Amino acid sequence: ARVVVLVSGSGTNLQALLDACTETSYGARVVAVGADRDDIEGLARADRAGVPTFVAKVDDYSSREHWDRALGDKVGAFEPDLVVSAGFMKLVSPDFLERFLTLNTHPALCPAFPGMHGPRDALEHGVKVTGATLFVVDAGVDTGPIVAQVPVAVAEDDDVESLHERIKTAERAMLVESVGRIAREGITVEGRRVRIGAAGR
Ligand code: GRF
Repeated sequence: ARVVVLVSGSGTNLQALLDACTETSYGARVVAVGADRDDIEGLARADRAGVPTFVAKVDDYSSREHWDRALGDKVGAFEPDLVVSAGFMKLVSPDFLERFLTLNTHPALCPAFPGMHGPRDALEHGVKVTGATLFVVDAGVDTGPIVAQVPVAVAEDDDVESLHERIKTAERAMLVESVGRIAREGITVEGRRVRIGAAGR
């Protein structure tokens, strides 16, 4: 399966996918990496892996809609079976989501703690267990049908950074496992439910 990964930052989730893709039996291949800004480690990781990159900055377009369409065209040029948003800090339009089956990773157990500050919000709430979620992106913020989740215990002495780092370790493993399985076995999305291993695409 052809995968386009979208990033906005350090790209450790991307790196985990790139590493997994070196095994041909993995079933997925990162065919391009896109970003909404330049000079980020995520793009450097793609360069080092010999994977083509593209950048679409919102400020370079006359409107958010134009940006969204341009991003869709750049992604579409690589004819992906799947788009993975891995720390991509922008929301895309329903048109984009209609065009591409798009997965996103979130550092919390959805539907808990959506938005930009999953680890901070979990810590502030005092939960003892949080985690990471892989879901099919829909029109909401971190609301889409859930593909996979992994729990992570909150330690007494955690701060936001230590908790997020521990979540990210679990998140990367979940992402690699799920994307590989989807690439090999397909995915079917029916309303709120996701099935991997069915007839899917
Ligand atoms: C991940 O925890 C992702 O869920 C969140 O930002 C982090 C991105 O990390 N939205 P990286 O860029 O993959 O290292």
